[in-house]
Amino acid sequence: MFTPVILAGGNGVRLWPLSRRQRPKQFLSLEGEGSLLTNTLARLEGLGMAAPIVICQEDHRFLAAEQLRQAGVEDARLLLEPEGRGTAPAIALAALLARREGRGEPLLVLPSDHHLADEDAFRTALGQAACLAEAGHLVTFGVVPTRAETGYGYLQAGKALGDDGFAVACFVEKPDLASAERFLAAGEHFWNSGIFVLRPDDYLEALAAFAPAMLAACRAAMDGAVVDLDFLRPDARAFLESPANSIDVAVMERTDKAAMVPLSAGWSDIGSWQALWEALPHDADDNTLRGDVICEESRGLLVHAGSRLVATLGVQDLVIVETDDAVLVADRAQSQRLRGLVERLEAQG
Ligand code: GDD
Ligand code: MG
Repeated sequence: MFTPVILAGGNGVRLWPLSRRQRPKQFLSLEGEGSLLTNTLARLEGLGMAAPIVICQEDHRFLAAEQLRQAGVEDARLLLEPEGRGTAPAIALAALLARREGRGEPLLVLPSDHHLADEDAFRTALGQAACLAEAGHLVTFGVVPTRAETGYGYLQAGKALGDDGFAVACFVEKPDLASAERFLAAGEHFWNSGIFVLRPDDYLEALAAFAPAMLAACRAAMDGAVVDLDFLRPDARAFLESPANSIDVAVMERTDKAAMVPLSAGWSDIGSWQALWEALPHDADDNTLRGDVICEESRGLLVHAGSRLVATLGVQDLVIVETDDAVLVADRAQSQRLRGLVERLEAQG
């Protein structure tokens, strides 16, 4: 049995112009049916999970509540952050809530922006992770890297922990390109999937050791939390005292209790248009087309036509996204760089 903790507080800026501040990617139907959030919840069906804890930004509370309803999830706790402080404090709030409700079983921390093609393989890996977490490990899932990606964390597998996984010898969050290339060439590293299995007490103990100010702020925020209809609001002033950090940097890079279960389940983080194109099926010309689109002599495109016809002729490897108020045309391979462009747009107002 797990308590699922769904992280849904990100901004998804690299999927502009579909993903917007008011409606970030986790609330969008990027894979076809269902939003990334409802697909994440659907993945848990039939696994005998406890009531999920969903953590998102205050601004997105109605979107999240509506999507929980659509997913038929009635028992979720919806925790609202006044402002994101990163995944480490978000998971701390969830761990404190779980403890307050007397739930000691491992948390299954799930980002809401992942694609998993093979759900059976994921379920098998979950069983292995549960055994390791029950033995006090902070468990993540390791994915065999296919490129020198600098947007992920890297784990070096250490000694075997029975048949369930490995101790993590070294965890490096988002290395520079030279290190990522070295890790890829050496073949001993895995990508950190960003999905974690850990008991609430073990996580809180790690925070007490590595991030005491964060733990204190989150404790004070939960002590002053207010329940308002379906929403649980930690005390905003106390929470905003917390330093911002990710679980990867605050805890996983530093703990000696990290363990890894290999995951081969067609995993990807839908972080960019390139990643989405890779995760979705392609036609005979390697195109992925959504909406009213006509292509001639065009290859390797990801085209999303919102409300107008989009036609392409003689172009390759582009992302074209048409929405009511903005159109993006970009080199698909450079779609990671959209963050900078969007920041420039926002600065211009
Ligand atoms: N509630 C809440 N609050 N959720 C958050 C916050 C926050 O402040 N910040 C991020 N999230 C959510 C995002 O919506 C996403 O679902 C998840 O937490 C992970 O955050 P990302 O911002 O997408 O992290 P990342 O992709 O850069 O890096 C993480 O995931 C990689 C794999 O996808 C790390 O764990 C890497 O090590 C890992 O390789
Ligand atoms: Mg991500």
